[in-house]
This record gives sequence, C-alpha cells and structure tokens, in this order.
Amino acid sequence: MQTNKNLVGLAMFIFAVFCGIKNYAQSTRADTNNHPPEVSLNILFGQGQFKWNSLVYYSIAINDKEDGSSEYDEIPVFEVLLKVVYLQDSALLKDYLAGNSMIAQRSLGVLQGDKTSVSTGGLTIMRKSTCFTCHASKGKLIGPSFEMIADRYQYNPDNIKMLTKRVQNGSKGQWGEEQMPPHPGLNDVQTESAVSWILHHGKNDDVYYLAGIKGSFRTREKPEKVTGKEVYLLVASYLDRGVPDVPDTGRYGGDILILRSDE
Ligand code: HEC
Repeated sequence: MQTNKNLVGLAMFIFAVFCGIKNYAQSTRADTNNHPPEVSLNILFGQGQFKWNSLVYYSIAINDKEDGSSEYDEIPVFEVLLKVVYLQDSALLKDYLAGNSMIAQRSLGVLQGDKTSVSTGGLTIMRKSTCFTCHASKGKLIGPSFEMIADRYQYNPDNIKMLTKRVQNGSKGQWGEEQMPPHPGLNDVQTESAVSWILHHGKNDDVYYLAGIKGSFRTREKPEKVTGKEVYLLVASYLDRGVPDVPDTGRYGGDILILRSDE
C-alpha cells in the first residue's frame, strides 16, 4: 500500500514536470499558431502493473489540430515513439526526472537527442526522417537494430565519420542482402548527430524506443532479488509537423504511464 501512495505522489510530480514541458514546447516559438498534439497512451492489460518476462501491449492515439488523427491514418506512425525506461527502484524516478528542467525534458524523451534543437538532436532527426521504418532499438527489421550497430562500432570520431558517409550515400553488404538507400536530405551535422546517438544509446538495455502507434514489448526476466519497487516508465510522444516550411516550429505532445511490478 505504501508503494501505491508513493507512486501516486510520484505520478503527480511527473505530471507537474510534464506540464512544464508542454509549456516549454509552447514557448519555443511563440509566434506560431501551431497547436501541440494530444497524445494518449494505453496499456491493454494489467493497468498500472507489469509481470516479469511478459508482453506488454500498448496503443497510442494522436490527435493534432493541424496534422490530423491517428484514428484516420493521418499521422505518420513511424514518427510516434514509445520510450521504455526500466528503473530498479521507483525512488529513482524522481532523480531521473528532477534537476534542471532541460535534463528532465530530455529524460522524458520529449526533447530528444544530445542537443535540444529540433534540427540537430540525433533522435529527433531520426524520428522525423525515415530511420524508424527500417531500424528498431532491439531486434533486426530491414536494417540492423541500434543495439547491433552499437555493438559492432565503438563510439569514436572515426566510426561516426564513416557511418555518417554510409547513411548519406547509402550502404550495402555490411550486414547482409538488404540495402540502405542514400539520405541526401540530411546534412553532415544532422547525420552525424543521428549516428552519434545510435552509437551512444544503442546498447542501453534500460532505455529504448519503439516506433508506431501500437505494439508490444517484453519485460525483463525476474531479477534474483525483487523488492517490489521496480517500475517501467513509459513515455509516448509525437513531434508534429509544425508550420509548413518554417523550421523548428514542430511541437511535442506526450503521455506517461508508470507500471510497477506485480510482486
Ligand atoms: C529503407 C530502409 C532503411 C532506412 C530508411 C534507413 N536504413 Fe539504415 N540500414 C538499412 C540497412 C538494410 C542497413 C544495412 C546495410 C548494409 O548491409 O550495408 C542499414 C545500416 C545502417 C547503419 C550501419 C551501417 C554500417 O556500415 O554498418 C547505420 C548507422 C544506419 N543504417 C543508420 C540509419 C539512419 C540514421 C537512418 C535514417 C536517417 C537509416 N539508417 C535509415 C536500412 C535502412
């Protein structure tokens, strides 16, 4: 019961942080009429709880005044991301989100990437490009997962340069039969920050991303010592298209759920 109480307090705290983010998003470009998207994250079974080594099914609904609604297929689904964060102790949630609000915003995955600008943040660039149609954090799709790429290439300037060229010019033969098409629309800085992001974050098992408006992920194996304080923090977000032809006017919307272990 105590855990429950703590979680309610925590949820309120996170909600407060999150509202701050929405406000932040609003103030990035005060001179636009672009409305932020409404994002609603739902878990299909076991509301508020998770079981070890089990599938969690989720769906995300997006409603945006300008872009449209996911219900009518008006939202590019690969630009909708679910960030999955595993924390051993729910008390860490506060640390995870607290501190300077910029860090909190990044932690929540609402502002993503190493830099905060829409046009240079690695993850932001990838979600607005086509990367997530072929790549996932874990598990091969058409291309290798971010985890596989980060396992093969160390995070260093040479690898970042080399992979930047391969993303820009296209790549074949490194991983198998499938080819990666060239990405001439991304400049050097943008491509480098996408590649850096992959090498830097690819191996993190506690934080990863799923693209799409519905899907599932498997929770981890039950640890030897379970305290009952383990939580999954789920953050769904969408960055809308913004004002046509005006850069950096996209706005984020998000929704958060916390699942605690059922024992
Ligand atoms: C149409 C599918 C597709 C898209 C879109 C795509 N990739 Fe790939 N990607 C692949 C495939 C397939 C490979 C493996 C190519 C090979 O074997 O050389 C790959 C390989 C990679 C590699 C590893 C290259 C190497 O030499 O080992 C990186 C890094 C990468 N992709 C990043 C990205 C980024 C960043 C984006 C978005 C800007 C992106 N990809 C978009 C299919 C795609």
